[in-house]
Amino acid sequence: MKLLDRVAVITGTSPNIGGGIAEALASEGASIVAIDAIAENANDCAGYIEAIGGRALPITCDVTDEKQVAKSIAKVSETFGKIDILVNNAAFYNKKGVIDMPYDEWLSQTGVILGGAFLCTKYVARSIIDRKGVGTIINIISTAGHQGEPGNVAYSTAKSGLLNFTRSTAMELAEHGIRVNSLTPTATDRSESFDRAERWGRSIDRPEDDIMASYRERSPMQKLPRPSDYGRAVAFLASDDARMITGTDLRVDAGAIAKYWPWEPGKQASPQ
Ligand SMILES: NC(=O)c1ccc[n+]([C@@H]2O[C@H](COP(=O)([O-])OP(=O)(O)OC[C@H]3O[C@@H](n4cnc5c(N)ncnc54)[C@H](O)[C@@H]3O)[C@@H](O)[C@H]2O)c1
Repeated sequence: MKLLDRVAVITGTSPNIGGGIAEALASEGASIVAIDAIAENANDCAGYIEAIGGRALPITCDVTDEKQVAKSIAKVSETFGKIDILVNNAAFYNKKGVIDMPYDEWLSQTGVILGGAFLCTKYVARSIIDRKGVGTIINIISTAGHQGEPGNVAYSTAKSGLLNFTRSTAMELAEHGIRVNSLTPTATDRSESFDRAERWGRSIDRPEDDIMASYRERSPMQKLPRPSDYGRAVAFLASDDARMITGTDLRVDAGAIAKYWPWEPGKQASPQ
């Protein structure tokens, strides 16, 4: 096991990507702190990990509220004595463009993605430095943070900002023994998150339409990653196998960002 005796804080633990990352880190031996603004997402994630024999703590916390973040990180230290890993994953979707998006919605979406990562990083880094420990932080980006997606201006801009937040904090925290990297997911296979929700005891309606089909066809690998694919990559970045890796972005995107833009996957060659 790569993460035995490590304590990992993950924000945004829905049954989708945050839940997949939490389960992957738990399967490598880490104790999990599931932080979410929605109590059910924190409780179900931590409850499932405990039920299968792991150690987990649920915390309901809005990552944009500095007092709540400070209190939550203090509670983790009280419970487990330390923090080794932080995964800044919390976000929400609100696809709007620059012409239509109300300014307060811009502030709240960039506030969760960038402000939440800032606050959690600040308090976790301080706690690692105070106990003279070492640690690692992983920020969850999106392929939308690498490219100009129309009509998703706050999300794309904040995710792009998180890439350079990663590099800036990696430089600042290197001398303190804290590595900071990011991981880029992309359009994600939804079936695993439905399976996970059911394993967590929820009853769900699986959609009949495969709304991801067009993404799958455009993916160079002609398939889409699952949350567990991200989870394994986060476990690697958090582990000692990545001990000399900081300030980098690991893309788990089935080749999406590497694609030559005029090429249509599945067709023989790109146009001359
Ligand atoms: N699903 C995808 O296809 C995809 C693709 C690329 C990147 N991502 C990124 O992966 C991450 C997870 O995405 P997901 O699809 O699992 O999203 P999701 O909506 O299923 O989960 C996000 C979680 O964050 C929580 N959250 C939102 N605001 C919060 C706040 N203020 N404080 C605390 N928690 C808060 C939500 O309650 C939710 O549980 C996000 O950062 C997202 O941008 C997702």
